[in-house]
Amino acid sequence: MKVIIVKDQNEGGKEALKLYENEMQNGAKVFGLATGSTPITTYEELVASDLDFSDCVSVNLDEYVGLTPDNDQSYHYFMNEHLFKYKKFKHSYVPDGTNMDAAAETARYDKIIEKNPIDLQLLGLGRNGHIGFNEPGTPFDSTTHKIKLTQSTIDANSRFFNREEDVPKEAYSMGIGSIMTAKHILLEAYGDKKAEAIQKMVQGPVTTDVPASVLQNHPNVTVIIDEAAAALL
Ligand code: GLP
Repeated sequence: MKVIIVKDQNEGGKEALKLYENEMQNGAKVFGLATGSTPITTYEELVASDLDFSDCVSVNLDEYVGLTPDNDQSYHYFMNEHLFKYKKFKHSYVPDGTNMDAAAETARYDKIIEKNPIDLQLLGLGRNGHIGFNEPGTPFDSTTHKIKLTQSTIDANSRFFNREEDVPKEAYSMGIGSIMTAKHILLEAYGDKKAEAIQKMVQGPVTTDVPASVLQNHPNVTVIIDEAAAALL
């Protein structure tokens, strides 16, 4: 695991851009993308760059169950606002939160991942060490599945909603096994609320109690964190 410590999230976005430029020069065409506040500066840098994704495919990590793409809290909406309306991809895939048939939706999404092997997977980090929406306890070999959000994730994400009861309680998420098939993984984390999860991810035992600790088993992981998130290392 290569850990890059930056001053702040803006600098982190600039570091991430270098990595995207490098990957694209080396022929990367399939990008696994993430939502949340963490990747925002990375998307700003990608948008401001002259990188051309028109020949590329994006595959997003997760989506809330029950939210339509035009709901401003959906991850579809987030991706349109932060990236897709500025940078066109050949195809952009996001799990369909409106498909209430979980077996059909997760099988459909697994096929998409299989057909589009991910060159670079971007990840944020939950305060409890989750990646995508893979909460503690998720098996390391999991593929796309429907999950129930933990109370700590509902609490953390309620800041984006008007009322806590509006936060969806379920989501579709790419599995940990699917994430681990990516050739290169870039995880970003900023702020002191992520320090404990970063410490466990980098230095702790590899355990399903801390989903991100599985990244210790991947041969090509880059971690970009600020000083606050690195405080316990
Ligand atoms: C959500 C997302 C994750 C994200 C995490 C952290 O749970 N499903 O993909 O990494 O939140 O969010 P933030 O970047 O806003 O701290």
